Amino acid sequence: MIKQADLVLHGARLLTVAPLGDEHPRTGAAAGDVGAIDDGWVAAHDGAIVATGHGSSWQRLDLILHATVEDTEGRVVMPGFVDPHTHLCYAGERWDEFTARRGGSDYLAILERGGGIHATVRATREASDEDLVAAISARIGRAAASGTTTIEVKSGYGLEPAEELRHLRLIARARASAAVDVSPTYLAAHALPARAGGDRRAFLRSAQAALATVAAEHLAEGVDAFVEKGVFETEDVAPLMHEAASLGLARTLHADQLNDVGGAAFAARIEARSADHVSRASADGLRAMERAGIVAVLLPGSALFVGYPPADGRRFVAHRVPVAIGTDQNPGTSPLEGMPTAIALAVTMCGLTPHEAIVAATINAAHALGRGKRAGAIVDGRRADLVVLETDDERELAYRLGARLVRSVFANGRPLREASS
Ligand code: NIG
Ligand code: FE
Repeated sequence: MIKQADLVLHGARLLTVAPLGDEHPRTGAAAGDVGAIDDGWVAAHDGAIVATGHGSSWQRLDLILHATVEDTEGRVVMPGFVDPHTHLCYAGERWDEFTARRGGSDYLAILERGGGIHATVRATREASDEDLVAAISARIGRAAASGTTTIEVKSGYGLEPAEELRHLRLIARARASAAVDVSPTYLAAHALPARAGGDRRAFLRSAQAALATVAAEHLAEGVDAFVEKGVFETEDVAPLMHEAASLGLARTLHADQLNDVGGAAFAARIEARSADHVSRASADGLRAMERAGIVAVLLPGSALFVGYPPADGRRFVAHRVPVAIGTDQNPGTSPLEGMPTAIALAVTMCGLTPHEAIVAATINAAHALGRGKRAGAIVDGRRADLVVLETDDERELAYRLGARLVRSVFANGRPLREASS
């Protein structure tokens, strides 16, 4: 059957990152298989990929009138990046804390004194709905311009459930007008709000009570919590996570970021979609993640900015734990923007190979967001989310840190107006 197409990119070094006979995230020896086709092409119609091939066989496609047909002249064409972990709903930047930390102040000690996350909470509470929607949309737009076509956005700077719900509703507004796919997450337990008077259990019960509204209004796909020494313990958040599961919401965690608190094993126990950061995860934790098939989302940006040892990606690959990477973009621990930078850091700091980092930024990250069958790969039937790089060697993404390598971006088969990285 001759297929209709309204978009064809040919003459490409095509990285399909196509599933290897199954729909699981890539692990172990397959963790770096990008499914490359030299002199390849991809065709799309109405926002979906309809065919891929090699050489000049694209000429047999039935091109609709005004179809976009581009000879990419050997450039890399790859799936749009999937950023599985961001905190884009906030107001205010944290220059003072950033400067103080450079002078030796400790991240958790600042938080304990009512700064850190609490400083962003205060600034965000003061911000109007309009200003917050504009800020979220601008951040999503910049991510898209650097090649991200699926992005997770967490709440988490409201702390009190009513304010968290306001943030989730504003994320929904930004999502409705975004050119790329947005996956919202309710970060229900990020820090204990000052007004909770130190009562963790009562606060977590109120967060748990908000889940019914979150589910009924489809305000989030998943629920997140920060399990860390002095913040929340795994046992504190277990009821919240079980309630999330019973409402059909996915679970994810900030786990073992600064200290090993058993977060990785806990993520396996609650059948989380992913366990994120995991820089301090124990070998037992990794084994539990492998058995349960939990994706490890590595976030080297925060290790770089806060100055703690990054996750060792080689351990995860050796344990056959699926690895994804994200920006963790937030005003406190990771102000970095754009997945190309996250890829470069995952290679230089976490020890992934460039190809493992590309897999981690596409198909495995899609799995971390429950989109393993819909995004993150150039396969017939998937959304036509594509990035054209300004290079014929994808390893350059990991090599030329900070270079502008994203030439153009297609989200849902449509070109984004401007692309830069
Ligand atoms: O992923 N560690 C917890 N949450 C964020 C940082 C939040 C903040 O400092 O504003 C993170 O690192
Ligand atoms: Fe985070």
